[in-house]
This record gives sequence, C-alpha cells and structure tokens, in this order.
Amino acid sequence: MRVTVYSTKPYDRHFLDRGKDIGLELRYCEARLSSDTVSLAAGADAICAFVNDDLSRPMLEQLAGLGVKLIALRCAGFNNVDLVAAQALGLTVARVPAYSPYAVAEHTMAIILALNRKIHRAYNRVREGNFALEGLLGFDLHGKTFGIVGTGKIGAVLARIASGFGCTVLGHDLVQNPECLASGMTYVDREEIMRRSDVLSLNCPLTPDTYHMIRSETLPLLKRGVMIINTSRGAVIDARAAITGLKDGTIGGLGLDVYEEEADLFFEDLSNTVLRDDVFARLLTFPNVLVTGHQAFFTHEALENIADTTIGNIEAFRQTGQPNRKRQGDPIWRC
Ligand code: NAI
Repeated sequence: MRVTVYSTKPYDRHFLDRGKDIGLELRYCEARLSSDTVSLAAGADAICAFVNDDLSRPMLEQLAGLGVKLIALRCAGFNNVDLVAAQALGLTVARVPAYSPYAVAEHTMAIILALNRKIHRAYNRVREGNFALEGLLGFDLHGKTFGIVGTGKIGAVLARIASGFGCTVLGHDLVQNPECLASGMTYVDREEIMRRSDVLSLNCPLTPDTYHMIRSETLPLLKRGVMIINTSRGAVIDARAAITGLKDGTIGGLGLDVYEEEADLFFEDLSNTVLRDDVFARLLTFPNVLVTGHQAFFTHEALENIADTTIGNIEAFRQTGQPNRKRQGDPIWRC
C-alpha cells in the first residue's frame, strides 16, 4: 500500500518508519497538503495528514481523482476535513482519537504555571543578571476557580491536575463526563463558567458552536482579569477580540498553543523571515501572553501512540477495506 505522508518532520519519520516493517510504502513530504502539493499523492492509495493540511472539498475531489481511498489523519481533531465531501466521494477518513491526553493536559498546566509565575520573563532576566522581582508577581492557584470547557479525555486529566492544586473545578460540556463528576467537578452553563472562572481552559473541539467562543460579544461575560488558556484549536478564540480584552484588562493572562492563522506559521523555523501577521505580532508584544507553537501533543509517548494507531488504521484498511473494528464507534469512521 502506497501512502503519501504530508507535513512530515524528522521526528514524524522516526516514529512512522515502523510502517515500512509491515510493507507500507511511505512517501514522506515536508510540505503541507495544498493545491500546490496535492499532485504528490499521485499513485498513492492513502494519504496521511496532520492538523494544518487542507482537506477541504476541492482538495478531497483532487485526491479522489488521483485514486486515493483513505485519509489517515495522525491527529485527534478533524475540523480541517470536509467530512460531508469525503463521504460523497467515497473516501474513508481515519484519525487518532486518543494518543496521550496527559501530554496536552500537562502542557496546559505548564503554560498556566509559567504565565502565572512569569517563568518566561524570569528566565531571561536572570540570564542578564537582573534579579529584581518587580513585574513577576503571581497568584496562588490554590483556592481559585478553574473552568474547563470540553471535559473529554484531555479535560478530564486536566480536571484531576487542577484538583491536585486545590482549585475549585468547574466544567462545561454538551455531555457530563462521569469521571469528571467523580473527581469533584461541578457542571455549569457556558455563561456561568465564563463569569466565575479565574482560569479558563479551552479543551473542546472546533465546531460551528465553539468557533470564536471568546469574541467581543462574550468578553463582558468574563471575570475581570481571567487567565485564558487555549490548547484546543485556534479559532475557538477570536484573536482580535482577545487583544481588546488584554488591552482593557478583561483578560489578565493569555496562554496559546494554537492560533487561528497558525497554518502559515507553526512547525517551521521562520526566525529569518518577516512576520506578516500583524495580529499575531501584536499578541507577542504583551508581557502577559505566552505562546507555544502547537506543541502540547509533543511527547515521546504521544508520538509513539500516534504512529502505532495511524499505521494500525492504514493496515486495517489495507486488509479489509473497512475501519479498524475497535474504532467503529468513532463518528469519523462513518465516512
Ligand atoms: P474529546 O472528544 O475526548 O473531548 C472533547 C469534549 O468537548 C467532549 O466531551 C465534547 O462533548 C466536548 N464538546 C464538544 N462540543 C462542545 C461545545 N460546543 N461546548 C462544550 N463542550 C463541547 O477530545 P480530547 O481528546 O479531549 O481533545 C479535545 C481537543 O483538543 C481536540 O478536539 C483537539 O482540537 C485539541 N487537541 C489539541 C492538541 C494540541 O497539541 N494542542 C492535541 C490533541 C487535541
């Protein structure tokens, strides 16, 4: 089975190479899947894609036209795939629904702690021989209200971590997770979680309902000075509105691992080029904003699990033309 693997870095190849042991013919491309690179899938039975690959209808039409049958996502989120078009074109879509919720939840807490205690600023100061504490004042997480929007696999792990810090944990979701209830979470509606949270972590998928959940109309609902952390998908926050909120103090701290327009930025070394995104550039000027480049998933364990599941998905499809039985409950397999 021939597979064109888009958006690959050396670390992806290191883990995915085990697919060659079972006879998969993996053709690695560093480039993202786009109209410029779709032709690299010619002759492939499957493509393997990541978070910022373009899987919109026109792209899927071209892939189907080239004879591709399977889209194997090596990520959990599938907001970049037009599932309706995939189904209409007879393309099967597979993903990695869970690989390490710990990786993302722990990174979320890392951002919170760094942002709160200004570790990013302290690190630079100390290296320059500046040991002044002015500007580094944080707050105790203990006793604070910690809101989690999206209490699935990642949200549940984060809830346990936040409880360990002595926070009061609130959750908001379309469905209540028994594991979260058991760990002491109180479920509230979206308005209440915004109104009460000192720290608000976004851990839901990007859907029409969660698109720009933080926007100019919802800023007045937030507790003044709230710390907002987004490790889900960039477009859950309207970055322009966040800038307004940061300027007027509505938002006291912003931690981002994802950004709506990240596709042109993240995963590349752009240190020698001019930053063209003025919104992103403005975000970087705030002392109370901390951005990481979509690295929350990036642990050894997660990459190993991603590779194993992705190869398992491709292998199941090769052998049966059907989804991996274990994953038939996953809504994405309906495609
Ligand atoms: P999950 O599917 O286990 O949990 C998501 C939860 O969000 C579910 O409980 C669902 O009911 C809830 N939800 C859906 N729509 C909602 C809405 N409108 N309002 C409130 N809650 C809603 O997914 P998991 O594994 O916890 O991942 C969550 C998200 O994290 C993924 O969709 C993905 O976008 C993002 N992610 C980010 C990574 C990173 O490296 N930054 C890595 C992995 C996932």
